[in-house]
Amino acid sequence: MEITLIAAFDKNQAIGKQGDLPWHLSSDLKHFKKITTGSTIVMGRKTFDSIGKALPNRKNIVLTRNKDWQKEGVITINDPSEINSICINENEIFIIGGAEIYKAFLKIATKMILSFVETEVNSADAFFPEFDKECWEIIDSTKNIKEENDDFTYRIKTFIKLAK
Ligand SMILES: NC(=O)c1ccc[n+]([C@@H]2O[C@H](COP(=O)([O-])OP(=O)(O)OC[C@H]3O[C@@H](n4cnc5c(N)ncnc54)[C@H](OP(=O)(O)O)[C@@H]3O)[C@@H](O)[C@H]2O)c1
Repeated sequence: MEITLIAAFDKNQAIGKQGDLPWHLSSDLKHFKKITTGSTIVMGRKTFDSIGKALPNRKNIVLTRNKDWQKEGVITINDPSEINSICINENEIFIIGGAEIYKAFLKIATKMILSFVETEVNSADAFFPEFDKECWEIIDSTKNIKEENDDFTYRIKTFIKLAK
């Protein structure tokens, strides 16, 4: 099973501020929707709270340590290892954040789809984890993107984990 991290971060790898995304990037959200629709997405409980509901047409899995936590349309797990049994028949699952969840899955991830956003967020409080660039190969990179409802220019790069 391919485990793919999908994220957008700024020049300092900031992904969030005060529980929310630090920007409006409408075209990046469309790209996220296109890639993840029909698949399984895995997120932390705080990211679920910031979205507010299960995302349609995807299997939504939320990680929390709270054994009583339940929401409509969501499969709750209490440990990252539980995804193996839940996703046994899947080719690819998407880890959609936030910072704690990216960190928990980085070691076992085999692919990353990262949007590099051309800004520096002030007072960001959530960051994508550091990763060893030597262990990852860029297999695709877009040109700069900035559409009508995008706050900033960004570029999407796809990485695959190199075999060691
Ligand atoms: N730019 C992007 O691409 C992007 C994508 C997603 C999110 N974000 C941003 O990231 C921020 C949220 O990130 P975050 O790191 O604060 O929160 P998070 O990763 O979304 O969620 C953290 C929560 O996940 C649960 N959790 C974490 N590790 C766990 C483990 N090993 N076992 C069981 N449960 C575990 C805990 O939930 P409980 O407290 O319920 O136990 C923890 O409080 C927000 O600002 C959001 O907007 C940005």
